[in-house]
Amino acid sequence: MNTEKQNKDELKYNEALKKKISKLKKSRNAVIIVHNYQRDEIQEIADISGDSLALSQAAVRTDADVIVFCGVQFMAESASILNPGKKVLLPVMEAGCPLADMITPEKLRAKKAQYPGSAVVCYVNSSAEVKAESDIACTSSNAIAVVRSLKEKKVIFVPDKNLGRYVQSQVPDKEIILWEGFCPTHIRVQEEDVIKTKNIHKGAEVIAHPECNPEVLALADHICSTGGMFTYVKKSPLKEFIIATESGMLYKLQKDNPDKKFYLPTPHLVCANMKLITLGWVAQSLEKMVYEIKVADDVRTGAKKALDRMLAVTGEKSGAVISGY
Ligand code: 13P
Repeated sequence: MNTEKQNKDELKYNEALKKKISKLKKSRNAVIIVHNYQRDEIQEIADISGDSLALSQAAVRTDADVIVFCGVQFMAESASILNPGKKVLLPVMEAGCPLADMITPEKLRAKKAQYPGSAVVCYVNSSAEVKAESDIACTSSNAIAVVRSLKEKKVIFVPDKNLGRYVQSQVPDKEIILWEGFCPTHIRVQEEDVIKTKNIHKGAEVIAHPECNPEVLALADHICSTGGMFTYVKKSPLKEFIIATESGMLYKLQKDNPDKKFYLPTPHLVCANMKLITLGWVAQSLEKMVYEIKVADDVRTGAKKALDRMLAVTGEKSGAVISGY
């Protein structure tokens, strides 16, 4: 079969799946929530897309009965913790987060015993059990504000060391105790990749996610969450940007800014877990109502406290219902 025919067939197949998903979504009163790293075709069917904070906020506001979460486990888990009355579905159960797996509640308890009187801040890229052991959660877009909001001077920050280090540089009056976790996708960006790409695209600005290595962050003109990247690019008078984060970001950046150009510093910026979700799995998810993400009540209560406290820092309260999603 020639490639042109293959592409046409694939397009036809995807269009049929999109129609099926749209019908099922109505009949289930479902909302499709999509992270910025998802495949292009999944971003195309999103009712809401955004960064981790925006998606947690959206999960709180929705009045749909079912949330189909196109992201990874910890994201769907957070939606379920914030919305115990709703069915939260993750289309592919294996879509995990290696960073979240770099810490366990037992290891965190041991760390807390080492530093009594410290506050514990957990990045949302963590399990519900780890959240339940923490005082407050944070995302990459509110980590600085969350740490600043604490009365404690000493802060155990888990599990991403690069984000923790970046927060420390912005909040020097706190003493941040780091955890040795990292995102295997973001650490693939090397200093040389950024320098090489900048040499080719001389006028381009470098925008980096705070999960990147410190040497990469030192080369960045702007450091922010995935959601922050959209706002920054839209406002910028510049026309070219080097984007140091997962490749899925380029879909919406390019769509919203057709007159601007975006480059990845390396082609290896692909999170295999994020890419597990396909249109076929979303259709199956709605058809069979799988895979439901539930958190046991004893864990959920503690984890919700950490998430609620985070949302309060950014002016959001769980339980509020705003229709329209
Ligand atoms: P954002 O909250 O910036 O979208 O980051 C999510 C994430 O998991 C980065 O690896």
